[in-house]
Amino acid sequence: MIAAVAPPAGPAPILTTPEAKDLLSFAEPQIARVTHVDLDLVADFATRTMQGTAALDILAAPGAKQIILDTNHLTIAKITDAAGRPLNWSIGAYKDYIGAPLTIDLGGAKRIVIHYASSPEASALQWLPPELTAGKKLPFLLSQGESINNRSWIPTQDSPGIRQSWTARIVVPGNLTAVMSGERLTPKGEDLPDGTHAYRFAMPHAVPPYLIAIAIGDIAFRPLGPRTGVYAEPATIDRAAAELVDTEKMVTTAESLYGPYRWGRYDVLVLPPSFPYGGMENPTLTFATPTFLTGDRANVSLIAHELAHSWSGNLVTNATWSDAWLNEGFTTYFENRIMERLYSPARAATEADLVWDGLQKDLKDAGGPAAPSTRLHGDPEGTFGQLDYFKGSTFLRTIEKTVGRARWDAYLTSYFDRHAFQPQTTAGFLADLRANLVKGDAALEAKLQLDRWAYQPGLPDNAVHIRSPELERIDAQVTAFAAGAAARTLEAKGWTTQEWQRFLRGLPRSQQTERLADLDRAYGLSASTNAYVRSAWLELAIANRYEPALPSLEQFVTSVGRGILISPLYKGLKAQGDWGMPIAKRLYAKARPTYHPVVVGSLDKLLD
Ligand code: BES
Ligand code: ZN
Repeated sequence: MIAAVAPPAGPAPILTTPEAKDLLSFAEPQIARVTHVDLDLVADFATRTMQGTAALDILAAPGAKQIILDTNHLTIAKITDAAGRPLNWSIGAYKDYIGAPLTIDLGGAKRIVIHYASSPEASALQWLPPELTAGKKLPFLLSQGESINNRSWIPTQDSPGIRQSWTARIVVPGNLTAVMSGERLTPKGEDLPDGTHAYRFAMPHAVPPYLIAIAIGDIAFRPLGPRTGVYAEPATIDRAAAELVDTEKMVTTAESLYGPYRWGRYDVLVLPPSFPYGGMENPTLTFATPTFLTGDRANVSLIAHELAHSWSGNLVTNATWSDAWLNEGFTTYFENRIMERLYSPARAATEADLVWDGLQKDLKDAGGPAAPSTRLHGDPEGTFGQLDYFKGSTFLRTIEKTVGRARWDAYLTSYFDRHAFQPQTTAGFLADLRANLVKGDAALEAKLQLDRWAYQPGLPDNAVHIRSPELERIDAQVTAFAAGAAARTLEAKGWTTQEWQRFLRGLPRSQQTERLADLDRAYGLSASTNAYVRSAWLELAIANRYEPALPSLEQFVTSVGRGILISPLYKGLKAQGDWGMPIAKRLYAKARPTYHPVVVGSLDKLLD
């Protein structure tokens, strides 16, 4: 049994209130819904497709004749019931981004079997040639489900409000290893007569389908603690294990804050650099970018973040993508509480202060505090930039400071318990907060401004800003450099990622060529192997059309595929019009084949 806490009996509840309707899914779960997904797939690296069957257990309302699933560019061969009798099905009109509904006549079937293949262009999957791996010898496959990509390789109801348990059997080439976001039942795989290997997995808890994830490649494992470990390519495993030494303690720390970790093991998979995100909270197996491996453990808040999602996101899940701040805002807050308890209040304050900087920048870039896209809930196009993270966590910090830590922490622990393994809406959270924390205290209700925070644009006037005295020292260096001090006279020896970020982002955007050259000479920024520092430096260089940094830029965008580090560079180039756009186009043409489909999707739009 994987679970430290047994899964609840029966299918997870769904929400039927109007605001819980998922506009990005075709499913009609009140009529018929998927409760379990059983995959039997071959990963075919030659055709870059997943092929096989998905058997779905169905719970249908009395009289329901059909079930509607989400798909995106799947090729369906046939669909049968459990006994192999063919069922009628049809695929509806394709909608850009969302995909197409697959409607199946149930004919009373409680289990249906879909025979299908994914497209080589499936938006969840990136098939890496050997050159794009650390080992350079074997290919690699990685998936990214959130938000709505999994329908490109799994035909199911792809909505975060429709939880499903799952099992899988995955056949891979004999020299590769498969891992998934569930219990790994066959760590060594089973030999098949044709030289391939079969791996089996199980997730006994009902999870939102965006949390089903897979990676296949030359993957090694190293234990870190009794229930923690790290997977990575052999060439990366030592560095990864060194960076992740505190992982077991991190799990214990998280539990000491908000209750038991309910998923059994907590492992981290460090992927090749084309992984499109910093991290992804796949249950039991966080997926992580190798760019966080800076050798000094300065960026392990990334792991604290993905671990925290084991409560906020994976246990209590945003019911729709309009409620995404319930995942990301809660998690950004929780992440910082882990960092504070595991390391120090000073370190947590540094990171929280950078969140505040990000909040201010996003509010500005969104077009100011009145912009509708700055609402946590409400904009169908999504909340601007990282405001789900920055504004969402600031909201929770403000509640904490208003009611006091003891009371807030007790509430939050009980909240995760009350809603474990269930979807949650913004309205549902506010109702729970009122029932269990505010409890009719009119003065408190007025102080908190809950509805303003959740539904209005901008920043309410009770917002709490955590300040870092250590970053104030960096600000003094910004002032010194801006006043003309030579770069080598700055006190920048041993600066961490966060200190460099504050410095480089804090510098006036307009810099003379000689000043940039001075900085680069003194600190080797163009050659920095710290991807966060390199990205922040290149952003400044681009804003000033600083051509000596172009080789560094080219090397960077062709070797790193993490969207948040490279998108600002392409955006910066675009903003430089006639100078920048040709450079952006040339670099993108070269780099595009190395990027994950989700990054290609957004950069195609930007540079079109
Ligand atoms: N769940 C997100 C990644 C994500 C968000 C994927 C939205 C698809 C759509 C993950 O937990 C995350 O927030 N990653 C951050 C990490 C950072 C905040 C520490 C990232 O990728 O940069
Ligand atoms: Zn997150």
